[in-house]
Amino acid sequence: MIITTSRKPVAQLVQEAMEIGRRYGITYIDRGNLSLSGLLDRYGAVLVLSRERLSCHTAAGELFFHPNMAAVRIKLMRQGKTDRMVRVMGLKPGDNVLDCTAGFCADSLVAQMAVGQQGRVVALEKSLPVYLVADHGLRHYSGPERLRELARAIELRHADFREYLEALPPGSFDVVYFDPMFSKPILEAAALRPLRPLAFHRPLTREDIALASRVARRRVVVKQHSSFDFAGLGLSLAPGSEDKKIAYGVLDIKESNDG
Ligand SMILES: C[S@@+](CC[C@H](N)C(=O)[O-])C[C@H]1O[C@@H](n2cnc3c(N)ncnc32)[C@H](O)[C@@H]1O
Repeated sequence: MIITTSRKPVAQLVQEAMEIGRRYGITYIDRGNLSLSGLLDRYGAVLVLSRERLSCHTAAGELFFHPNMAAVRIKLMRQGKTDRMVRVMGLKPGDNVLDCTAGFCADSLVAQMAVGQQGRVVALEKSLPVYLVADHGLRHYSGPERLRELARAIELRHADFREYLEALPPGSFDVVYFDPMFSKPILEAAALRPLRPLAFHRPLTREDIALASRVARRRVVVKQHSSFDFAGLGLSLAPGSEDKKIAYGVLDIKESNDG
């Protein structure tokens, strides 16, 4: 993977792209007259910084930050509707959430909306290009103010959730959340196609859930395809998941401690 700019960049953009490259050990290539397809053929993955955004191009397309799905869900929440994920998590204002699989941060944005300014959402992303694209997107998003505030509030970290969970003191977050890549992609999620070659895909294990249940004060929540074996991870199916393509598995910490 390399980093470059859009064509005819202003000096500040070049400086910024070089700085990202320096900080994360990614080679910076002067764009000059180089075509994107030529760069893709040569390097496979190309980060492009433009005035509008930082995106990552691969053969699967352009990965860029867009809060579209979260924006729809947040609008419905403002109208008084309860978001399904928020209900399963049992979120209320002031809660602290650890989103172990940040991706585009759509779920983090919705969680941030639910926990409000007194609450906290920390999101972890292991893939460097996905992290860089999402981080730049959250910090530079210039849409409606209410979404901008939510985007700026999320604390996104470039981290592996296993290492991160291991290092946290017990009971650090109210809810720990996972939305790992589905092994079989859902057809409608075509917008996620550019994410697939850049994302990490290892399935969740019982050890991951054990790590999460040490860190969660209240609940561990996992989102997966409805055919997923939640019981195999020691999770129970959240009510309302039965007739849906996407289901949630939960582990209630109080219940499991009670025995
Ligand atoms: C399906 S996406 C999450 C989408 C996200 N919930 C959203 O609303 O945009 C899964 C993400 O988790 C990341 N991931 C997978 N394993 C990880 C790990 N061990 N640590 C941190 N992130 C991981 C992948 O790289 C991918 O970006």
